[in-house]
Amino acid sequence: MRLHVADHPLIAHKLTLLRDVETPSATFRQLVEELVTLLAYEATRDVRTEPRDIVTPVAPTTGTHLAAPKPMVVPILRAGLGMLEGMSRLLPTAEVGFLGLQRDEETLQAITYANRLPDDLSGRQCYVLDPMLATGGTLVASIDYLFERGATDVTCICLLAAPEGIATVEQHVGERADVRVVVAAVDERLNEKGYIVPGLGDAGDRLYGVV
Ligand code: URA
Repeated sequence: MRLHVADHPLIAHKLTLLRDVETPSATFRQLVEELVTLLAYEATRDVRTEPRDIVTPVAPTTGTHLAAPKPMVVPILRAGLGMLEGMSRLLPTAEVGFLGLQRDEETLQAITYANRLPDDLSGRQCYVLDPMLATGGTLVASIDYLFERGATDVTCICLLAAPEGIATVEQHVGERADVRVVVAAVDERLNEKGYIVPGLGDAGDRLYGVV
């Protein structure tokens, strides 16, 4: 697994506003979109391209175009939905699939409760959107799900990560270079309730309210 922690003053500034308990939902949503667009720039560094011949008003030239098949963006419900707009802004031609995962309270394993993805993801580059990499269970299940359907590489975009979650993903996927995690910051730890510390609280609740 390759980990990239974004190191940019604008990201640090927006993340600080995002963490602030006083930040209202509308501002929170706006900040998430902006942060994802900045992270997506880094996360798409390895997006596959092919040469394309075009003619400018001055001369023919060979440029670069995103290669087929189209990349697949996969927001993890529900909080990942808040990241979709920011990602789509940078990658408007990508297709979007949805994955809903929740923890089985008995086995503590992540189980899929919703899925709107093609069965065959052969050759597709996938971009998983999940704001909080906490225990890592959801991300590991998502990565497995996508690879089982033939995805060729998986890049996870997260806003915050706990060291425990990063370790879980690392242990699960090992040295694979086709799994990347791009994150705005790595925090101190998880608390006893599984929240990232200092974190930003429950990302879904802060985006959409407590429902
Ligand atoms: N999910 C969240 O929304 N927040 C955390 O701190 C951990 C998991």
